[in-house]
Amino acid sequence: MPPIGLFDSGIGGITVLREVRRLLPGEDLLYLADQAHCPYGPRPIDELRAIAATCAAWLIERGAKLIVVACNTASAAALGDLRQRFPETPFVGMVPPVKPAAAHTRSGVVGVLATPTTLEGNLLRDVIEHWANGVRVVPQACHGLVECIEEGALDSPTTVVLLQRYVAPLLDAGADTIVLGCTHYPLVLPQIRALVGDDVHLLDAAPAVAQRVVQVVQERGLAEVPAGMPGSVTYATTGDPQRLARLIERLDLPRGSVIPVTSL
Ligand code: DGL
Repeated sequence: MPPIGLFDSGIGGITVLREVRRLLPGEDLLYLADQAHCPYGPRPIDELRAIAATCAAWLIERGAKLIVVACNTASAAALGDLRQRFPETPFVGMVPPVKPAAAHTRSGVVGVLATPTTLEGNLLRDVIEHWANGVRVVPQACHGLVECIEEGALDSPTTVVLLQRYVAPLLDAGADTIVLGCTHYPLVLPQIRALVGDDVHLLDAAPAVAQRVVQVVQERGLAEVPAGMPGSVTYATTGDPQRLARLIERLDLPRGSVIPVTSL
């Protein structure tokens, strides 16, 4: 059965896979963790476009009928380019969920935690232009955070210090709603919650993106699921498969087979 393909620089996009799995439990999912190139955040746009095209081509060669760019940074840098390069394949990308955040805020200030590439990209600029509705959007680039999460060091002193450093300016600016603009960040949601308290609303785009995937699957007639059969989950990594398998288990992410990718 042709799978739904997803890719990210590492484990972050598994937070999106988790939601897709919840809504489409019968679909086969093929997830490419490009850990050899992690983090994507500091890389120039041209390089990110080339990397994203290679990841997409790899998934398409393995029969992916739809691709979720489960990475805000790769979406910001390359989503339009991917759609042009692979016109036969539907792509679903990520953009920080500013629209629901702007609808939710009472203080009129929304914080966005993301990588610099995401914060500087056109996708976010367009979303702010269309949906911020006079709400002040405060961007915060989170250097080094993806690396800590990839290490599985969710509670380490370094991670907590970084989170404090990045969340404090948003709270100081009066944000009552904070957007998680990187698919890695939901993995440290409890740690962020501990810093911001119960009154700040934290928004993850993954559930909405999974709903969009369901919509595209239906619109394009891509669902071909034998009733009642659970789909498979396969993780492929350009990094170390054993390390990835251990991390998936430790972080209680959806289980699946883990295979190495040598030719990306
Ligand atoms: N999960 C990616 C994102 O959503 C992480 C980017 C990175 O590797 O720096 O932006």
